[in-house]
Amino acid sequence: MPAFWHWFVAAGTILFVVWCVWLIRWAGRQGPQNVADDQVVGHVWDGDLEEWNNPAPRWWLYLYFITILWAVGYMIAYPGLGTFDGVLGWSQHGQYEEEMQTAENKYTPIYERYAAMGFAELQSEPDAMRLGASLYASYCTTCHGSGARGAPGYPNLTDNDWLWGNSEAAITTSIRNGRMGVMPVLAPALGGDAGIDNMVAYVKSLSGLAEADANAMSAQPMFVALCSACHTAEGTGNPALGAPNLTDDTWLYGGSDEAIRTTITQGRNGVMPAHGELLGDDRSKILAAYIASLSQQ
Ligand code: HEC
Ligand code: HEC
Repeated sequence: MPAFWHWFVAAGTILFVVWCVWLIRWAGRQGPQNVADDQVVGHVWDGDLEEWNNPAPRWWLYLYFITILWAVGYMIAYPGLGTFDGVLGWSQHGQYEEEMQTAENKYTPIYERYAAMGFAELQSEPDAMRLGASLYASYCTTCHGSGARGAPGYPNLTDNDWLWGNSEAAITTSIRNGRMGVMPVLAPALGGDAGIDNMVAYVKSLSGLAEADANAMSAQPMFVALCSACHTAEGTGNPALGAPNLTDDTWLYGGSDEAIRTTITQGRNGVMPAHGELLGDDRSKILAAYIASLSQQ
């Protein structure tokens, strides 16, 4: 703060305190003798209580003086007068640093102990799981829901169906590095509406949602040619690419004709944002162990 503003603020603050003292003394000296009859409303309460005829109680006045003294003491002790630091040397920044340091001293040993554990061990530590649950509540509920059951486009983390795998490494990587599912737009290769309809029917037949009739089966060669690179020829999916298993009854975007048609004609690009930088390695791991525990219950 430039010197001018320091003095401007400090002088303004001091003048204001002086003014408060003056105001109380001035108000204390006012009384009925100074007030002309035409300046009062003339109301009377409780028989004898009129405007001005009763001074404020002493203790009330003392309260004012105490608050003023408090302000003066405060400004000597703490920063408040321009850039004056206060004799106690307290600062917001200092307090923040101190609290962070206290938190670090408290949590670092805990995190270090957890960092040395595997998932199974972490999952048997109620404190670690509570920590995981609270991390989940802070960072993940917006997309995966408070119960981690997901929503269309956002995978359910409580079932045993995984896009990217459920090994310790896979879940930790999902959280730390994020994931990007790429389902390309493939409709143009399917030869118009009829071709798309047949492919939808074939996809549904893979999980038994529709009969594998002639129309559906006519799309099988196309499936092998266009889709198997990611979903495998049998449609069982590939966790290395995040390509879902199409033969089970779990759907990321939905198993209706409508949803499957949209997937094929418009493509899908689910994005799990990377959280490694935000959470750090230790917390990512605790969270991953917690996520893994959800589907084991
Ligand atoms: C380049 C790899 C790739 C190819 C080729 C591909 N897919 Fe996909 N598919 C994916 C990925 C990855 C996803 C998941 C998208 C996401 O996570 O947002 C997906 C999702 C889907 C879904 C949604 C499943 C659900 O649970 O909601 C369907 C249906 C699907 N693909 C069908 C097909 C069909 C049919 C073809 C061939 C015409 C095909 N895919 C070709 C990678 C591919
Ligand atoms: C902005 C929304 C968003 C947030 C926030 C988010 N996720 Fe995700 N997450 C997704 C999406 C979308 C996918 C699916 C990616 C795909 O389509 O392949 C996903 C996938 C995952 C997967 C892989 C699931 C599987 O089946 O393999 C895990 C594990 C996961 N998220 C955990 C978390 C955790 C833990 C957090 C909190 C730190 C979190 N996510 C926060 C959107 C989000």
